[in-house]
Amino acid sequence: MSRKILVTSALPYANGAIHLGHLVEYIQTDIWVRFQKMRGNECWYVCADDTHGTPIMLRAEKEGITPEALIERVHGEHSRDFAGFNVGFDNYYTTHSPETRACAEDIYGKLKAAGLIEVRTIEQYYDPVKQMFLPDRFIKGECPKCGAKDQYGDNCESCGAAYTPNDLKNPYSAVSGAKPELRNSDHYFFKLSDPKCQAFLRRWTREAGRLQPEASNKMQEWLGAEGENKLTDWDISRDSPYFGFEIPDAPGKYFYVWLDAPIGYLGSFRNFCGKQGLNFDDWWKQGSNTELYHFIGKDILYFHALFWPAELEHAGYRTPSKIFAHGFLTVDGAKMSKSRGTFITAESYLKTGLNPEWLRYYYAAKLNGTMEDIDLNLEDFVARVNSDLVGKYVNIASRCAGFISKKFDGKLASTDAAWLKPLRDAAENIAAAYEDRDFGRALREVMALADAANVVVNDRKPWELAKQEGEEAAANLHAACSEAIEAFRLLTLYLKPALPKVAEAVEAFLGIQPLTWADAATALPAGHTINAYSHLMTRIDPKQVVALVEANKESLAPTEPAPQKHAEKQEKAVAVATAQAEAAKNADAHISIDDFMKVELRIAKIVDAGHVEGAEKLIRLSLDIGEEKPRQVFAGIKSAYDPAALVGRLTVMVANLAPRKMKFGMSEGMVLAASGADDKTGGIYILSPDSGAQPGMRVK
Ligand code: 2FM
Ligand code: ZN
Repeated sequence: MSRKILVTSALPYANGAIHLGHLVEYIQTDIWVRFQKMRGNECWYVCADDTHGTPIMLRAEKEGITPEALIERVHGEHSRDFAGFNVGFDNYYTTHSPETRACAEDIYGKLKAAGLIEVRTIEQYYDPVKQMFLPDRFIKGECPKCGAKDQYGDNCESCGAAYTPNDLKNPYSAVSGAKPELRNSDHYFFKLSDPKCQAFLRRWTREAGRLQPEASNKMQEWLGAEGENKLTDWDISRDSPYFGFEIPDAPGKYFYVWLDAPIGYLGSFRNFCGKQGLNFDDWWKQGSNTELYHFIGKDILYFHALFWPAELEHAGYRTPSKIFAHGFLTVDGAKMSKSRGTFITAESYLKTGLNPEWLRYYYAAKLNGTMEDIDLNLEDFVARVNSDLVGKYVNIASRCAGFISKKFDGKLASTDAAWLKPLRDAAENIAAAYEDRDFGRALREVMALADAANVVVNDRKPWELAKQEGEEAAANLHAACSEAIEAFRLLTLYLKPALPKVAEAVEAFLGIQPLTWADAATALPAGHTINAYSHLMTRIDPKQVVALVEANKESLAPTEPAPQKHAEKQEKAVAVATAQAEAAKNADAHISIDDFMKVELRIAKIVDAGHVEGAEKLIRLSLDIGEEKPRQVFAGIKSAYDPAALVGRLTVMVANLAPRKMKFGMSEGMVLAASGADDKTGGIYILSPDSGAQPGMRVK
């Protein structure tokens, strides 16, 4: 019977870019959801931007825009990045929504009626210049233990000591620099220390399967021994000015961002119910027989395994069936680092032209359903993707499909062969691994099957059969290639949760309906016609990875690099040059069409152009290529053009060139221009398309 499953990923803050660390979670969740859908379950995946709180309010102020404008812009950027990595949310919403507000007010009202809200006066640092209470992260001062200067209000980065802001020596506001004053204010608390909450959480956190064993142990530590009351009440209000929802019966008091963030799961789902015609209560009221899973990072376990179920339970809502926590991402064995260029944004990955499915596959191969950290080893990334996906998987189709098209009019022979049985029979084992979120195990099984299929193809040597005369050789060739195509179909089915776009292309190539898990039990029939094969996936060129790291270093490092950063930059520049020289040595005089297609050429309209102060050769161009906002590009064409004469012209640009941080700002592409061997022999001529071309059109 089909299950009803609601799945969430943690809501990303609306004040920062999505990076590869975030993507561990969204890709993991997306794979699991796609698997559930392929199994025929009714499974919905919702998420939203986490839009409230002081950092977002201050960031908007700094940018000179309203918080609403900031969160709207970031919503666009986040949605674009997730779509770029094929993360298929059923609804991607915002916590700044009427639905989230209604749910937050409802939960708060019910907790209050249950006697679980209490008002208490607390003493807190106040910035007299900015006229606001300061969150701990916005108070700095000297560490009370080691005396290190400029330490945050919660812990010292120098000696590691943990303390409260009141312990800091010579505190100052990180917002205005003013000396903060201690002031009293009424705050609203959720009474987690209430015996009802304690008893509930003790029971809930121990129930089989709710939490991973590591998480359950952590909870027992936080809850303390039986009879001990270690949980303290939770401060759920913040004073004005604050960007969030005002508490209904408390003017000037706002729900703390962490109160309404998980309620954003409900808000997003409620919004989705409106669009999809689902009944919200069937999924969220106490007693619901649907399943609810939250995928989160291990750092926010406290919120999801303590506050959240206790709130839901005492407000008449169902609690999560399970919480799936994962570890952090390291890159090349270390924390992501802006100076090393390993703090990689999702946008830069896509703009550098790397295939998102490469990363999806690599992450999947590393995930095992535990809270262990996972490492993106860049060398291993290249090696594994190239060997598994191109060398093993795609290789099966690329070696056999052509013969079916050329020699048999695209028609398959029977695929009913004994050697395919183990591939078919593996379906349930692989499904069990996906279900357990042990994607690494699932993919190891799939690759073992791909190895077995390659052995069969190698033994039968279709390329030699094709050279032989006679009916028998033709029949053998037909059987060998048809069976290999059927093996390829099964492997595609098993890889589909991780590689949805490749699977889509394979479905089109095979001329079949979208694959579901049940299709493992059937086979492509004799006489089925497949379409012409076109290449499904290229190898990763290590140079692309070098360029990715370089792009992140440049875009995130300060404009004037510090001395040690400068040394690192040089080191990297040398690595780039070496890789390029190596590639040039190996390059053949021709490039393939695939190589050419990697260059994304687009028609661009010059909507603005101007001189660049301090630059002898450059003109700053604003280029419209049909995107939300124009690209800024610095072009070395000043010797030949007056900026004013360029405005309004159409030209051609390279749209997927990795963005480069220049002294004057970011350059987000390149315009194409013809020139002689040197400036003197012929000047510079930018290209123009024939009339009719529109901004954004691809040139190929
Ligand atoms: O840690 C974070 O990035 C939070 N924005 C996660 C919120 S998850 C849920 F509670 F909304
Ligand atoms: Zn210290």
